[in-house]
Amino acid sequence: MDRIRIVGGRPLNGNLRISGAKNATLQLMIASLLTDETLILDHVPRLADVALLQRILGNHGVDIMVGGKRPGETADDGQTLHISAARIVDTTAPYELVSKMRASFWVLAPLVARMGEARVSMPGGCAIGIRPVDLLIMAIERLGAKVEIEGGYVVARAPHGLKGGEIVFPKVTVGGTHTAIMAAALADGTTVIDNAAREPEIKDVADCLNKMGARITGAGTKRIVIEGVAKLHGARHAVLPDRIETGTYAMAVAMAGGEILLQNARPELLQAALDVLTRAGATVTATNEGIRVARNGSGLAPVDVTTAPFPEFPTDLQAQLMALKTRASGTSHITETIFENRFMHVQELARLGARIQLEGERATIEGVPQLKGAPVMATDLRASVSLVIAALAAEGETIVNRVYHLDRGFERLEEKLGRCGAAIERLSG
Ligand code: EPZ
Repeated sequence: MDRIRIVGGRPLNGNLRISGAKNATLQLMIASLLTDETLILDHVPRLADVALLQRILGNHGVDIMVGGKRPGETADDGQTLHISAARIVDTTAPYELVSKMRASFWVLAPLVARMGEARVSMPGGCAIGIRPVDLLIMAIERLGAKVEIEGGYVVARAPHGLKGGEIVFPKVTVGGTHTAIMAAALADGTTVIDNAAREPEIKDVADCLNKMGARITGAGTKRIVIEGVAKLHGARHAVLPDRIETGTYAMAVAMAGGEILLQNARPELLQAALDVLTRAGATVTATNEGIRVARNGSGLAPVDVTTAPFPEFPTDLQAQLMALKTRASGTSHITETIFENRFMHVQELARLGARIQLEGERATIEGVPQLKGAPVMATDLRASVSLVIAALAAEGETIVNRVYHLDRGFERLEEKLGRCGAAIERLSG
């Protein structure tokens, strides 16, 4: 199993290009199931999760062609996928595949919308919490699907197609909102979604669906209205930049010091996180090319943050912020309101010398003057990268084990940070 070796203490300087967003890419690939024509996606990041979803969609009969390089294109531009679900041969998503990647559960809505039936394994728990799917099921039931749980599978049937309806989410859910939109796109009549998630990835997927002929308005707000259409067609869409990757590298610079231009990054996708970084002592400037983040000389100030759905501070940056706060001059608090078990990084940060106390959903982080390198490992993607951030400022060598978590969501992380001056390398095997 690969590991990453980091020797801390080097500032980060230069340009770092932000990839396409993982959490939009996965949904966009799944949206291809809604049409028998080809969907072309540009700026798709090269990630383990994307490769795995390719295999999972392949099991349903979807053909995916990865476009070759075009003149002037670099690896930083991501890849182009030509996705064709001309003929869906299997409406079952088996346990063996869904258990490898939770997001594959989301094939449920497009399969039932287009094929009138879907049989998808329950995803089960994961490292960051229980993560139920009751609201995703509620959404398709509201549109007329009959849903049963049979032998660990969610079996949804709508032999005469779905019908538009009203969906009110009691709690903001990203997966639930995507599910509702995809189901409603091909439903007969109008669907109104209330208390919808406003995450930028929702808007990106809705934009793509509209290019495919869907009639969706209000994506990015709490109320989304969808006029169902009988058929969707092919389209071409470029994935929006990854706001979590952006925030992660912004925090890495704030931690290590230096100045980096995050090319392709868009401030409006993570304003709450950029505001926190400014309060913490970094200088953040929006430019035509992206976002410039610097910390030269000044120390890190403590800040209190509570995670919440977009546009508030994202749970997917909570671990990274915690790493940064371990070196603030004072005490910070972080309250995690989205996932009940998303503090698995705490004990690993402690191995580097961090002082963190947990009480339910609240972490108290007492800044220390110096972290010290150590072997560490993490159990999920964002937790793993928080250890990388801590290691960049730790004295001596840190070995981050279980790098496959990082490969799920960060494209060529060691190369990107290495080019900016970090002493970082991948150790194979
Ligand atoms: C998406 O997960 C993201 N995953 C997560 O990214 C992200 O942390 C999360 O949204 C919140 O922003 C992808 O896009 C692939 P939710 P999702 O439904 O859709 C509860 C990463 O690191 N809930 O918005 O699964 C749930 O338990 C990750 O890239 C129900 O109660 O999250 C949670 O408390 C991991 N019933 C809250 O809602 C349901 O049916 C929000 O979850 C569904 C969710």
